Amino acid sequence: MRHTYRDLQVRQMKYRLPEINDKDILQTYVLEHHDNGETNISASLGLSSSDYTEWVTKIKNNGFFGDEQWGKSLLYLCFVEDKLIGLLSIRYELPEVLSEKYGDIGYGVRPSERNRGYATAMLNYALSVCREKGLEKVILGCYKENLASAATIRKNGGILIDENENYKEGRISQYYLINL
Ligand SMILES: CC(C)(COP(=O)(O)OP(=O)(O)OC[C@H]1O[C@@H](n2cnc3c(N)ncnc32)[C@H](O)[C@@H]1OP(=O)(O)O)[C@@H](O)C(=O)NCCC(=O)NCCS
Repeated sequence: MRHTYRDLQVRQMKYRLPEINDKDILQTYVLEHHDNGETNISASLGLSSSDYTEWVTKIKNNGFFGDEQWGKSLLYLCFVEDKLIGLLSIRYELPEVLSEKYGDIGYGVRPSERNRGYATAMLNYALSVCREKGLEKVILGCYKENLASAATIRKNGGILIDENENYKEGRISQYYLINL
C-alpha cells in the first residue's frame, strides 16, 4: 500500500512536554489562534493568560507530581519535524466525576494545519498512553456543533453516551466513551 506524504507526516508526529525555550514557538501558536478569532486555546491550560515560566513549571508538576484535584496529567506539544502542530492534554488520573464532566483528553490543532488528520493521530496516541497507564476506558466531551472534534472522536472508536444542554451558554455538550 502506498502512503501519501501527509500520511508519513502524521505517522512521524513527536510528542513531548513543554520546555522553557519553547516560549517563542508557543507564542506564535497562540497568535495564530488569535488571528483566527479564537481566544480560547484548547488543551493549553491557560497558556495565553499565564506567565510562561510559571506555566511550564505547572505543566511539569502536573506530569511528575500531579494535582490534588485533577491527579497526574500530561500536556504534550505535538510536532512534525520542527513545527508545533497541536496541543494534547491527557488527564489519566481524573476522578470519575470530573472525567464525566470535562473528559479525560483534550486537544487542539493550529488553524493552518487542520483537516489533515493530525487530531485523529493525536487522539490515537493519547489513547495508547491511557492504555499504558492502565485505563480501560476514557470519556471525551465536545460541543455538539463541533463536527470536526466529534468526527475525530468517532474515528477513534468513540460511542456517544450522553448529552446535556448548558442553558446559560445555549450549547449542547456531548459525551463519548472509548473502551481501550
Ligand atoms: C477539532 C480539531 C482538533 C480537529 O483537528 P483536525 O486536525 O482538523 O482533525 P482531523 O484532520 O484529524 O479530522 C478529523 C475528522 O474531522 C473532519 N473534519 C475536519 N474539519 C471539519 C469541519 N470543519 N467540519 C466537519 N468535519 C471536519 C475530518 O474530515 C475528519 O473526518 P473524516 O476523516 O471522516 O473526513 C480542530 O478543528 C481544532 O483544533 N479545533 C479547535 C479546538 C477544538 O475544538 N478542540 C476540541 C475540543 S472538544
